[in-house]
Amino acid sequence: NGPADLHTAGASGVLLIVKNYTGDRLNFGLAAEQARNHGVTVDMVIVAEDCAFERPSKAGRRGLCGTIFIHKLAGALAEEGASLDQIVAKVTEVLKGIGTLGVSLSPCSVPGCLPSFDLPPGDMELGLGIHGEPGIKRSKVASADEVVKTMIDHMTNPDSQSHLPLKSGESVVVCVNNLGALSCLELAVVTRAAIICLEKQGLVVARVMSGSFMTSLEMAGVSLTLMQANDETLRLFDAKTGAPAWPNLGCVCASGRSHTKDPSAILQSAQFFSGPLSPVMRSALERVCSTLLEKQEELNALDRAAGDGDCGNTHAQAARAIQDWLQSHVVPGCPGKLLSVLAGLVQEKMGGSSGALYSLFLTAASGHVTEGHGDAAGWARAMHAGTQAMRRCVVVSLTKATLGAESTRDLTARAGRASYIAAERVTLPDPGAVAVAAIFTAVLESLQGMTS
Ligand SMILES: *[C@@H]1O[C@H](CO)[C@@H](O)[C@H](O)[C@H]1NC(C)=O
Repeated sequence: NGPADLHTAGASGVLLIVKNYTGDRLNFGLAAEQARNHGVTVDMVIVAEDCAFERPSKAGRRGLCGTIFIHKLAGALAEEGASLDQIVAKVTEVLKGIGTLGVSLSPCSVPGCLPSFDLPPGDMELGLGIHGEPGIKRSKVASADEVVKTMIDHMTNPDSQSHLPLKSGESVVVCVNNLGALSCLELAVVTRAAIICLEKQGLVVARVMSGSFMTSLEMAGVSLTLMQANDETLRLFDAKTGAPAWPNLGCVCASGRSHTKDPSAILQSAQFFSGPLSPVMRSALERVCSTLLEKQEELNALDRAAGDGDCGNTHAQAARAIQDWLQSHVVPGCPGKLLSVLAGLVQEKMGGSSGALYSLFLTAASGHVTEGHGDAAGWARAMHAGTQAMRRCVVVSLTKATLGAESTRDLTARAGRASYIAAERVTLPDPGAVAVAAIFTAVLESLQGMTS
């Protein structure tokens, strides 16, 4: 219904947030004039946060995904009751600290039209606009880490006139924006790379948002937006909004969270555990690891018959992680503590259903072999508790493995990938059960070797 209605609906003014494209500036400028003629208080801010061009060019700096930060901050200010002038002043100041750069692996095409430009497979283009305008540089596709580093270096390069001057120790808000066709996985990989790269430059990543916020049809690419942040911008950024596409992050600081750390750092706490590992337990553990590595191919072969053929690989992965850990850490002597560290290690490094199952077993068992309870009765209780815990969670009865993995050829898998295979086709022993049997055999042989 015309701008006058907006005015009379209680708005104290209208702010036009315009991306720096000639057509947009003209048309929104015209709209502003018309609104003024209707008696509406109206103002306009131009977003031009593009970091692509090193030297001023005819096109000028474009408005890109940084625009959504301006929408958000202006909205939060309005919600707080700020006047139009105050909002314009504030966002104009914030705009100086925003920069965006995009990279793409493919062109985009308006539906029914040819692609907006040619980009051969295997090439990528840096610094494009959101309407498929060409970028500044072409190169071969590189890893996410390398591409992100190139982008951030370009955006912060003081020799470029459109750079964002970021100093070590400063806080930034980051937006990793899908230009259209990236998968969630790819976007997450880029997001992680961006956080790590920024932290390496001494920046504090105060907030991160990643998703599809300003897309360019089906372009397979991503843009990075950085905004220098202080307490006020963060408060406005964090203010809750009902806008459906806004992620409402609350106060999540990305810097210092575990995704930037080596996962094994979680296990460092083990160093506080008392006493060194006894030679008996160390040799049993080492034997378990070497046995699993020897059996890698055998387990894979058994698994190919019923599962996805990686049972040996996942066990080998766990074995190598345990070997590494034995070499590089103070290993706790208390069996219970050892088992709970192993539980964490296996969950982290082995993954999948097997990792979860072993971890479940070890976690439940660990409580029964605490300081002073590491005797045979304690170990028996621990094994029982471990198997009970697994049984509560899963239905494949692995306890039979201790009796002989051969008997598992008659068991029906009721969980895991193997459960999708018709029972008649399964005539080989279950590879997981063979692995468990091999582990117990290794422990037994190791103990026998010690005592004989
Ligand atoms: C917007 O682009 C024009 C060129 O179209 C350029 O002259 C101008 O400096 C740009 N505005 C900003 C704020 O960078």
